[in-house]
Amino acid sequence: MTRDLALLPKGHLHLHFEASMRPATLRDIASEADEPVPSWSDFADFSDFEAAYGDVLRLIRRPDQLERIMTELADDAKADGVVYVEATLAPVLHQHLFGGDAEAVLDFLLAAAKREEERTGVVIRAMLASARSGPVELAVEDARLAARYAGRGVVSYGLHSDERGFPAAPFVEAFDVARTAGLLITPHAGELVGPASVREAVEVLHADRILHGVRVIEDPDLTAEVARLGVCLDVCPSSNVVLHVVPDLDHHPLPALLAAGVTCSINADDPIQFGPNVLEEYELCRDRLGLTDEQLAGCARASITASGAPEDVKTRALAGIDAWLAS
Ligand code: ADE
Ligand code: ZN
Repeated sequence: MTRDLALLPKGHLHLHFEASMRPATLRDIASEADEPVPSWSDFADFSDFEAAYGDVLRLIRRPDQLERIMTELADDAKADGVVYVEATLAPVLHQHLFGGDAEAVLDFLLAAAKREEERTGVVIRAMLASARSGPVELAVEDARLAARYAGRGVVSYGLHSDERGFPAAPFVEAFDVARTAGLLITPHAGELVGPASVREAVEVLHADRILHGVRVIEDPDLTAEVARLGVCLDVCPSSNVVLHVVPDLDHHPLPALLAAGVTCSINADDPIQFGPNVLEEYELCRDRLGLTDEQLAGCARASITASGAPEDVKTRALAGIDAWLAS
C-alpha cells in the first residue's frame, strides 16, 4: 500500500506568488486585458523564461486580480496537503497599481493572505525578494520594507532573478538589515551559477536557506559543508529541468544531495510556467527519483523546520508528518 502524498503535511517554501496562478486565471486575465494568452512550449534559457514571466506580470492590471491569485494559492495549497506557504513577494512588481507605493502593495497582499489563512486554515507568510540584476539601493529599500513587517507577515528576505553576472556579495547590506530584524536569509543561488554562488550565499550572506542551491553538488567539499551547517536547499526539480539546470529529471541531484546529508525541501517555484504543483513534485520525486517515504517525509520535515512558520504550526505539522510515516 502506498501512502497518499496529499496527506503528508508540507511547507511550500519556494513559490513565486504570481507564478502560482492557475492556467484558467491566466486565460481570464489575458481576456480581461484584451491580450492573447501567453503561451510557451519551451524556454531556450533563463532570459527567455524571465521575459515570459514579464508577459504574465503585464496582464495583471487590477488589485482584485492579485486577490484572486491569493485565494487560489490557498485553495491549491490545501488540496496539495500544504499547511504552510512562504510565498515570495516582490512588491515593486505591482506598485504601479498602488500609486507607486510598495508598502501599500505589501499591506494589500498580506491582508489577502490573512483572509485566506482564516478561510482555509493554510498558514501563509511572505518572503520578500529583490532582483539581483537590479540596483543594490533598491534591495536595501526592499530589505528595510521587509524589516518593518517582521512579525507582521514577512518572515524572510531573499534575492531572485538572474545569477549570471550578478554576484550576491554587493547585497550584503540588504541582508544585514534583514538579519537584524530577525528575518530568515533566503537567497536564490546555485541554480544558473555553480558552487561559487552557493559559497557566496553561505559565507558572505550567511543564508539560512538557499532557493535551488542544487549545483553545490559539483563541489563535494562544499556539499559536505552545507550538510554540516544544516542550510536547507529549497529544491524545485521540474524548474531545474525546464530551465536546463539539469539535462533531465532522471539526472536531478536531489537523491545525491540527500545521500550527502544535505537538508532539502521540495517545491514548485513557478507552476504556471513549469507545470507541476508541489504535490506533483513530491510524486515525481517518488516515481522518477526513487525517493522513499522516509526521504519524502524528511523533505517535508525540512520544509517545516527550516521555515518561518509560527512554532505552534511547526509542532502540529511535524506531528502530522510522523503520523503519516507511521500510517
Ligand atoms: N524568479 C522566478 N523564478 C526564478 C528562478 N527559478 N530563479 C531565479 N529567479 C526566479
Ligand atoms: Zn525561484
